[in-house]
Amino acid sequence: MQALLNTAIKAARKGGDTALRYLNRVADIEVRSKARNEFVTQVDHAAEAAIIDSIRERYPGHGFLAEESGRHAGDECVWIIDPLDGTTNFLHGFPVFSVSIALKVRDQLQVAVVYDPCRQELFTAMRGSGAQLDGRRVRVSARPGLDGALIGTGFPYRSNVEWLPQYMEMLRAVMETTAGVRRPGSAALDLCYVAAGRLDGFWEFGLSVWDIAAGALLIQEAGGIISSLTPGEDPLQTGNVLAGAPKVHDALKSLFMPML
Ligand code: IPD
Ligand code: CA
Ligand code: CA
Repeated sequence: MQALLNTAIKAARKGGDTALRYLNRVADIEVRSKARNEFVTQVDHAAEAAIIDSIRERYPGHGFLAEESGRHAGDECVWIIDPLDGTTNFLHGFPVFSVSIALKVRDQLQVAVVYDPCRQELFTAMRGSGAQLDGRRVRVSARPGLDGALIGTGFPYRSNVEWLPQYMEMLRAVMETTAGVRRPGSAALDLCYVAAGRLDGFWEFGLSVWDIAAGALLIQEAGGIISSLTPGEDPLQTGNVLAGAPKVHDALKSLFMPML
């Protein structure tokens, strides 16, 4: 398993370095709109190609599910990749974005890496071995409830905009009961911040599997909980995510229940 993690780390650093090379000339980057408020650039594609090539070199038989190039058939090992999570931030030179790589073997996530190239922070996890930030063990916060909690979120702003009425009610309730709300703009990194105890909880509607997969394993390995906000047990399938330290997760769940 360690060899798989090492491969993922090497690939994530390559993806992150690709993004950094373009960061000082974002004005010249070619941007295409995939859908409302959904942008893709040559950087997303270049980073994804660098990541896939790097993993393939070591594991030629593995499959991939990557945001920009979709499915690549392979054996029972499938790498789930978001080469640039936070493209909108990146396009504005707003330095919060990440590379997210997870390995699923049959139906289980086994390895997770999220790399923040701006801070050069590396979040890693292997099933059963805990979660690490730059090689040091991290855990979710010990906060006993919403009082004093710092909560991360993502706004509904594109295909998930249908959730806006419920979301505004939820936001208001969280603002009224916690110490504050943050919307950094890279869901993969938000989940890592929950794993590392920097955020006590997080919620967002309409995420994709490549936004969530690595962060989900990191949170579980850090002692936290990730669940679906909406019926359907697997947040990786519904994309509607509630995560947090156990007591904060449960308190948010109760708070949101009447609004859903
Ligand atoms: C987006 C980011 C953002 C979240 C969006 C995601 P992208 O990913 O994670 O924080 O709010 O829902 O789609 O498009 O920049 O890879
Ligand atoms: Ca993403
Ligand atoms: Ca992306």
